[in-house]
Amino acid sequence: MSAPRSPAMDHARAVVERIGRLREERRAVILAHNYQRGEVQDIADFTGDSLGLSLEAARTGARVIVFCGVSFMAESASILNPDKTVLLPVLEAGCPLADMIDAPRLREWKALHPGRPVVTYINSSAEVKAESDVCCTSANAVEIVESLPGDEVLFGPDRNLGLYVRGRTAKRLILWEGYCATHAWVTAGEVLAARRRHPAALVIAHPECLPEVLEVADHVSSTSGMSAFARSSPAREFVIVTEAGILHRLMKENPGKRFHLASTRLLCPNMKRTTLASVADALERMRHEIRVEEGIRVRAARALERMLGTGRGRAGAEE
Ligand code: 13P
Repeated sequence: MSAPRSPAMDHARAVVERIGRLREERRAVILAHNYQRGEVQDIADFTGDSLGLSLEAARTGARVIVFCGVSFMAESASILNPDKTVLLPVLEAGCPLADMIDAPRLREWKALHPGRPVVTYINSSAEVKAESDVCCTSANAVEIVESLPGDEVLFGPDRNLGLYVRGRTAKRLILWEGYCATHAWVTAGEVLAARRRHPAALVIAHPECLPEVLEVADHVSSTSGMSAFARSSPAREFVIVTEAGILHRLMKENPGKRFHLASTRLLCPNMKRTTLASVADALERMRHEIRVEEGIRVRAARALERMLGTGRGRAGAEE
């Protein structure tokens, strides 16, 4: 016997149908980050990490891209696709880490360290990317740093990711002091307590976590790297140290395995702003269109395209 249907379920189904209709009418593609709400991931054409989403945005044939994520992600899609319409369903979905650096401060920093190449995490504004030599994501940061000439690199804005890279390269990294509050609030004590609660589990952490958290992890990777690791690992149980949204994908892809969030604080309020209703509205009213001023766009595109032309960018992100 099938479960009884509630008015809320009927409403959700109607919104999903509306999205499906509008997606066809607008010839749109829906991209969603791994941290999005489960129901948003489920209606997306592609769900992935920042590298995978950038690659998908660069190669899509669709005329309209609905970006379910935060503003720097939609901005990156628009930088790579100036002839397409990129929509961000909720304009207020920002990234506090990206806001920790701006173009004037980056210019001052560069002036203090002349001649050093600048590697900028994709979690940054278009203006900051325009001042950078190359972008990186958590999936390719080590490789990007290694690909540069010289012994010293300016790396920002995420200090924890920079420290992680520093441990894997002979280059000297000069770091900006930014951080992701969602990741940086988790303590090694919380992760060790989760390990004690789930002694058979492997711990998987994101490189935006504090170094002492990464030290007690069994595996460190981007969000899509976590999905690849969980799928191929013989382990049946995992403690996850990144934003809660990834659990939806992990559980869907691995029905026989168990996933535990290391801390209840692993929630990004900005990633959770996008709802099915806001996606439907974005498609219906063609809002909110994200555009970057052409002079900045061209320079920011250079940094992004240089990243996409390097190593795993060239090969494709999803393992
Ligand atoms: P990923 O590229 O690993 O998905 O990370 C994105 C992000 O913003 C982490 O906070």
